[in-house]
Amino acid sequence: MELMELLRTRRTYRRFRQKPVPQEVLDEILEAARLASSAANKQPLTYIVIQDPAKVAAVFGYTRWAAYLPPEQGQPKAGEEPVLFIAVVENLDRNQNCDTDAGLAISNMTLAAWNHGVGSCMIGACNKPALSEMFGLTEKQVLHTVVAFGYPTHESHIMDIERADDPDAVKYYLDENRDFVVPKRKLSDVVSYL
Ligand SMILES: Cc1cc2nc3c(=O)[nH]c(=O)nc-3n(C[C@H](O)[C@H](O)[C@H](O)COP(=O)(O)O)c2cc1C
Repeated sequence: MELMELLRTRRTYRRFRQKPVPQEVLDEILEAARLASSAANKQPLTYIVIQDPAKVAAVFGYTRWAAYLPPEQGQPKAGEEPVLFIAVVENLDRNQNCDTDAGLAISNMTLAAWNHGVGSCMIGACNKPALSEMFGLTEKQVLHTVVAFGYPTHESHIMDIERADDPDAVKYYLDENRDFVVPKRKLSDVVSYL
């Protein structure tokens, strides 16, 4: 896909077909993470792949989706869940400050996935203590985030925010087709030239 088209359409997806992500696509997603830039090139992140259906279901149980929507609209229902999670783990003995590294790696992963039609949702709102125990993390490891993947069954479109000072204007919603509509601030509202 052409780069700007990939960036425009790589949105957050929250309902999926129950079709596995092929290993060659998963390999490319993980390679994309490995290629990401890293502060001082310390590469403090490691990744845990969860694709066994029972384990995916267990991880899913600790995740919260679409905080701006009521759960019956935002939370994937039975048969709509992701088929794959990748947990991003900070290894504090390599670097204590991993946040930007994690953002870059997640961005690379979700773009590489979307290039193959695999949608994703980055999940910050998860039960990190429970997941850390499930993943067997050590005291030198911190769960940064889990990223959900799957072939989406809905679309997601961006729209310009007209009322920049309205705090509610950033809230995404579902349209009449249950597709997501994601308001984005206009360039003129976020860019200035010195
Ligand atoms: C740091 C971060 C944490 C997020 N956590 C969640 C989450 O816990 N649950 C969820 O459904 N979406 C989560 N998202 C997705 C955002 O809601 C989404 O990026 C935002 O609504 C804009 O939509 P877009 O990704 O399509 O541009 C997260 C995104 C980021 C960047």
